[in-house]
Amino acid sequence: MSRIYLSPPEVGADERSSLLEAFDSNWIAPVGPDLDSFERELAARAGVDHAVALSSGTAALHLALLLSGVGRGDEVLVPSFTFMATAAAVTYLGATPVFVDSSPATWTIDPSLVEDELATRARAGRLPSAIVSVDLYGQCADYDALTELCDRYGIPLIEDAAEALGATYRGHAAGSFGAAGVFSFNGNKIITTSGGGMLVSRSGELVERARYLATQAREPFPHYEHSEIGFNYRLSNLLAALGRAQLRGLDSHILRRAAINRSYRAALQTTPGISFMPVAAYGTPNWWLTCILVDPEDFGADRERIRLALEAEDIESRPTWKPLHLQPVFAGAPTVGGDACASIFERGLCLPSGSGLSEDDLARVVEVVLSVAP
Ligand SMILES: Cc1ncc(COP(=O)(O)O)c(C=O)c1O
Repeated sequence: MSRIYLSPPEVGADERSSLLEAFDSNWIAPVGPDLDSFERELAARAGVDHAVALSSGTAALHLALLLSGVGRGDEVLVPSFTFMATAAAVTYLGATPVFVDSSPATWTIDPSLVEDELATRARAGRLPSAIVSVDLYGQCADYDALTELCDRYGIPLIEDAAEALGATYRGHAAGSFGAAGVFSFNGNKIITTSGGGMLVSRSGELVERARYLATQAREPFPHYEHSEIGFNYRLSNLLAALGRAQLRGLDSHILRRAAINRSYRAALQTTPGISFMPVAAYGTPNWWLTCILVDPEDFGADRERIRLALEAEDIESRPTWKPLHLQPVFAGAPTVGGDACASIFERGLCLPSGSGLSEDDLARVVEVVLSVAP
């Protein structure tokens, strides 16, 4: 029996031929027709007009924040319950992340805490320069509430949709809500280019400026001319070719991950002490990862016991995000609440959810989880 991974890439004949066609056409680097097409196709999927393909989601976050005017000494509201990259990009600009707790009903940033914090900061004349929302584990944040607050206070919203390509909120695509949206095509995401990202926006101006900064701020001269410092952040044409094939498979990846989620629920939701990440009525997730909460009293063992039992059977699972306000590197950082996401971290476990997971493998995971209960 081979190891079961948490969320491995699923690639096939389409990916192989797309990649080889790009290779054979000699569009190896740095730009090329697949890159342009991938940007157009991804933008269409995200419900926006403009996109620039980048080397990672982190690079996309960095440029999104920079182009929203975030700079040295600024503060940016970010959820505490997310992957490190969301806040790391804030620090690249010399700004400070302010960590906001999750809503237990969605696990995404709690709009009522954001509202209170903005009111307090407005009175003190210290509004943040931007707010980053995260569409967590493939579920959108609550955009009616967040966009209303951002509009009310004139603060740019950046949507970290790294995990949520294909998800929707009230019928609108993830990635389309902020001044800029960010996707990741890291190897564990719902589609992958092995590594890569995309910055999307309704603003062509913002995306063109990102494109310029991502290519070392090179100006249109025959020689190399630079008036600003830029970055080497572009995705290669070869990887874009891979991304295009993956994007064609996105809907089937979503369907499979949704079916996996349903199967886990059918098998585990009546087990005392096990519950699932709540699904908000306002949208449809892309079901990137299925996450459970384990109540040690009711289940009879904690989530770490389950994780170790799975590992002993060569099955990869992972605790839900360790909140960023609890990370050593952010010790002493400003936080707004924090108990809700700390409690999810204590009890949360992400189960193998890859679109290539077979029924037999899924049954194996369920069997091991249930075997841990005394
Ligand atoms: C919420 C979130 N933001 C940002 C990133 C960063 O993306 P990348 O790994 O492509 O830099 C990731 C995943 O890796 C993520 O899960």
